[in-house]
Amino acid sequence: MSLFQVYPLQPIAITKALGSHVWDDKGTEYLDMYGGHAVISIGHTHPHWVKRIEDQLHAMAFYSNSVIMPIQEELATALNKISGKQDYQLFLCNSGAEANENALKLASFHTGRKKIIAFSKAFHGRTSLAVAATDNPSIIAPVNETGNIIFLPFNDVEALTACFAKQGDEIAGVIIEGIQGVAGIYEATNIFLQTIRALCDKHGAVYIADSVQCGYGRSGKFFAHDYAAVNADIYSMAKGMGNGFPIGGILIAPSIKAKFGLLGTTFGGNPLACAAALAVLEVMEKENLIEAAIQKGKYLIEALKNTKGVKVVRGKGLMIGFEMETGLEDIRKFLLNDYKVFTGEAKPNVIRLLPSLSISTAEIDLFLKALTEASTQILNKTV
Ligand SMILES: Cc1ncc(COP(=O)(O)O)c(C=O)c1O
Repeated sequence: MSLFQVYPLQPIAITKALGSHVWDDKGTEYLDMYGGHAVISIGHTHPHWVKRIEDQLHAMAFYSNSVIMPIQEELATALNKISGKQDYQLFLCNSGAEANENALKLASFHTGRKKIIAFSKAFHGRTSLAVAATDNPSIIAPVNETGNIIFLPFNDVEALTACFAKQGDEIAGVIIEGIQGVAGIYEATNIFLQTIRALCDKHGAVYIADSVQCGYGRSGKFFAHDYAAVNADIYSMAKGMGNGFPIGGILIAPSIKAKFGLLGTTFGGNPLACAAALAVLEVMEKENLIEAAIQKGKYLIEALKNTKGVKVVRGKGLMIGFEMETGLEDIRKFLLNDYKVFTGEAKPNVIRLLPSLSISTAEIDLFLKALTEASTQILNKTV
């Protein structure tokens, strides 16, 4: 049987990983500036993470959500502490799309309304409502098309205010990434997030902070939305949450009340996933990785701004996008094939860097040297 070909693959088989490095089946070493798409938060196969999962595997791999699960409560307490969202409640699931799907459903249940505001270039996942709120018609199946999503321009306070003025009593929620990832690293402005908060309060709508990519410390704060100094009603999380072990979740404000049967999942919150997520938070705290994201991010962003051939740099912490003056596709190829560096992209012209928060300055320097050399190669080619 063949695989269903939905991914354009690099012809590389990764068989080993440690920290910010991965190795292919021939033993070639690569520097991972992509973090498996923002997933690797504390570093590949961190020993504490491996041990936590291993210990849990030996104790008990799975039981359903029909019994008390102390490890889920332990995770909820740890998340309350690190996020500062003290009285929030936790619902666990398995992926980013599922987290957003549940967040959107909850906003609708809570308000009894149907309309959701989403923004231009947003990406929220591929399940039915999450994909409907994603600004990419090519991945929305006819069955997922709905008249319930209102797309507005990103960071446009006036358009948002006008929309609420016109139909505020129909709006269940507003969903927004603190830093748009798939779009190419675009930050939501503080004033925009503050306006969302104010308008949701005024009209009884739910503010959903999609933190699947920009959350979990990557931006230098636990949630990128925290830069605006207002709380969302729901934060969705996944990617960095398990450092590669599949887990997602939503943090839910105390004003939103649970009811038996309202949400549910078989695998969400399973003990192995919770062990992985707890290990991530423990390492983040012990190794001070959120502070590291700020410091390393500043260093990398400044250096990129001073790199020949780099046109624009955007982002916060270790969620960085940059554009080159010429030859973007070639540069990514050179970086991968000649310099053995994985990077991400956002079409049409952005290179995305989403490394582990534990990346060292020496590893960043290695990347910068490779970029400078690759860029020189391109410039020489085009002259
Ligand atoms: C902001 C954002 N939300 C949601 C998702 C969907 O997450 P998943 O692929 O885990 O379903 C992604 C994935 O890239 C994302 O970047």
